[in-house]
Amino acid sequence: MDITSVKFIKSSVDLKGCPKEGPAEYAFAGRSNVGKSSLLNFLANTHNLAKTSSTPGKTRLINHYLVNDNWYLVDLPGYGYARTGKKGRDAFLSILDDYLLHRRTLACLFILIDIRHKPLQSDLSFIYNAGAANIPLALIFTKKDKLSFTAVEENLNLYQNTLRQNWEELPPVFVTSTLKRTGREEILAFIEQSNAHMANAS
Ligand code: GTP
Ligand code: MG
Repeated sequence: MDITSVKFIKSSVDLKGCPKEGPAEYAFAGRSNVGKSSLLNFLANTHNLAKTSSTPGKTRLINHYLVNDNWYLVDLPGYGYARTGKKGRDAFLSILDDYLLHRRTLACLFILIDIRHKPLQSDLSFIYNAGAANIPLALIFTKKDKLSFTAVEENLNLYQNTLRQNWEELPPVFVTSTLKRTGREEILAFIEQSNAHMANAS
């Protein structure tokens, strides 16, 4: 799929503030600093349209970007990091929960995981909770460039085996590096297929 236009629509503090439901939405969730905003820029082929930072906690709102006047990429705040203390963290999670559980046009939630880490309880809980809530999911392992080919394979296997302890069927899995610019085509093809599927269903 070619990306012909990407427009920033708005940043919202909560679900109520989000744009009217309509176009299919593909949202990025994951721990702070995992690379959500970087991946959005990479997919959209834009430089720092979504603000990135080496300091965790950069994205603090729900950000809608309209692609090809047809579907949304949605950049979300990260979890697992609290610059503002426990109260701030809880407020973050409730923003996320409200959007994830109640946004009827959410076509797929991409959960991003840093490929360097062994499965972390916070990520596993987030994945299982999203699955239990019947949110359509896919997993994206980020920062592939930081590991050797063998280590990438090992960590992927370990992750998938861990998920299989709870699930028979795993969600689709993608692996990306925004530095080496890999993984983009696969994700865009997945989105294209999902858009076509939704158009047929409606
Ligand atoms: P929050 O908004 O704080 O939740 O973070 P985020 O998940 O949006 O992460 P962001 O895209 O801001 O990236 C965090 C850091 O990781 C930045 O320094 C990026 O340059 C770096 N980064 C993101 N993706 C990659 C990648 O594929 N490879 C490498 N080497 N670095 C990456
Ligand atoms: Mg961000």
